[in-house]
Amino acid sequence: MCGIVGYLGKNNTKEILLSGLKELEYRGYDSAGIAVLQDNNFANYKAVGKLVNLEEKTKDFITDGFAVGIGHTRWATHGKPTELNAHPHLGESSYVVHNGIIENYAQLKKELQEDGVTFLSQTDTEVIVHQFEKNLKNISNAFEAFEKTISELQGAYAMLIVTKSLPDTIFFAKNGSPMLVGVNENDEKFFASSDSPLIGLAKEVNYFDDGDYGYVTQDALEIFNKAGKKVEAHFVTLATDKLSAQKDGYRFFMEKEIYEQSDVIADTILGRLGEDEIIFDELDSSLFDGIHEIKLCACGTSYHSALCASYMFERYSKVRCSVEVASEFRYREPLMSKDTLFVVISQSGETADTLETLKMAKNAGLKTLVICNVDNSSMVRLADACILTRAGIEKGVASTKAFATQVTVFWMLSLYVAKRNKAFTTKELQDQIHLLREVPASVIVTDAMHERIKRLSKRYLHGHGFFFIGRDLFFPLALEGALKLKEISYLHAEGYPSGEMKHGPIALADPELFTIALLPQHLLYEKSKSNVEELSARDSTICAISPLPFDKADDFIPINSCKDYMLEFFEMMVVVQLLSLEISVRLGNDVDMPRNLAKSVTVE
Ligand code: G6P
Repeated sequence: MCGIVGYLGKNNTKEILLSGLKELEYRGYDSAGIAVLQDNNFANYKAVGKLVNLEEKTKDFITDGFAVGIGHTRWATHGKPTELNAHPHLGESSYVVHNGIIENYAQLKKELQEDGVTFLSQTDTEVIVHQFEKNLKNISNAFEAFEKTISELQGAYAMLIVTKSLPDTIFFAKNGSPMLVGVNENDEKFFASSDSPLIGLAKEVNYFDDGDYGYVTQDALEIFNKAGKKVEAHFVTLATDKLSAQKDGYRFFMEKEIYEQSDVIADTILGRLGEDEIIFDELDSSLFDGIHEIKLCACGTSYHSALCASYMFERYSKVRCSVEVASEFRYREPLMSKDTLFVVISQSGETADTLETLKMAKNAGLKTLVICNVDNSSMVRLADACILTRAGIEKGVASTKAFATQVTVFWMLSLYVAKRNKAFTTKELQDQIHLLREVPASVIVTDAMHERIKRLSKRYLHGHGFFFIGRDLFFPLALEGALKLKEISYLHAEGYPSGEMKHGPIALADPELFTIALLPQHLLYEKSKSNVEELSARDSTICAISPLPFDKADDFIPINSCKDYMLEFFEMMVVVQLLSLEISVRLGNDVDMPRNLAKSVTVE
């Protein structure tokens, strides 16, 4: 997702900022910018697209001697990827860069506009710099004005502000989005949203905690915690390997992405959960007018999240819903009626088969919606409406965090429609929204769980096949678990509805058939358990994933006891992802780039 860099010192500020941004390219972005304050003059450059465009724009810009500078790569969330929406954002005499989302931006923006402030961008970020300058008018001490600004912001942020009011200073604040500061013996100060821009420049770094804020000058690094108390920096020595820095110390991008799920789900729900309603600012309220059916179309992992959605749309929203594999839909001369909302789901927004079905639906005059992770992608540009998942760039070919955010968006969307259709009482909606708020915690990977899965994985490296089985919403999760395993272990795996095993596949049962059984406590537990017992009785090797102990299983991976099956879903999702990862690692496969697969399939 977005990346931040900052520099204060006497070296080549422009080069340090640009090469820092280059190190963050792997995170994905669609525009970039820098602002440098030197001799009380600001220079600001922004460009849409790749960093070469920004390099081109800044080629005649020279920095010499002491300066402060901030830079940003932006992954669009609020507002399109345009130059105006790119960071840094300007107030009257200050610039800000920001990662995260300011949840109360609409309210602050309204108040600022009433005070006569003109906004240039559609971003939530721009309110920060205007709010800061509003405070500066009443508080002469710029740091105190910054402190007040922080206290007025709700949401997640890592931010840097440079201002003419204190031209040799950078203000920083961190809450929910990562940021660190680095120092060296030349009194230089470096900021970044992850390690890699600082490698080779800073000897020691301090990772900020949530709620930390403060400022740097040449002589000082002052940090205050969320209680406003001054705290000491905790310096650690920076690693020196750039690739491992991009992986944040994880062995593989896929592993990092599994661990990131808590943060990206938090980003995905941010600003979208009201007390008893779901807020999708990006949707026109008339989108669902006249709609009696929802048709979902996708490929691969996105198809599995669409299957999950179909359970939620019918159960929660009380809308008829069907799901199609895009490559099948294209050629089967489907009947399409105008009371159907056509929804495509795609991490990349470029998958050729899915894109084609979107064109077909548009040609047939249907209303269209895309759930996508990449703003400005082909599907986003084509569809009538768009909801962006906020997973950030996904590097592992086997999709993990994109799936997690897709299911999260579908859960929210099904509640959005449920409210519209009066299918839920206010109390039911409130309960669901409380559950949604618990999802980020439910996908946190604990050492104990990861260690257990690592140990267990050694027993699952052979055999004549795997069946991942589940019922209801846990059936698409079983399909996704099997797909993950196939993709990166090259072992044969199938996802199957638990209740359907007796109609054929049970003939395969023997000790060399591995059954990964999803047994949620809160959805058809007894029925699913009987299905697994039938397999156990035929000597299939069973690995059960459940909050409840199951004595018929050979292996057991416990999940936390949850109050709802949706939370059990997310807990189990992490387990099946990690299981595939660890089996693949033991088999010595290339986890991030499995053979024969591509991340984005733009051919038919
Ligand atoms: C490829 C990838 C899968 C992905 C599928 C759909 O097959 O390897 O991981 O699920 O495409 O991609 P999309 O970008 O449309 O979600």
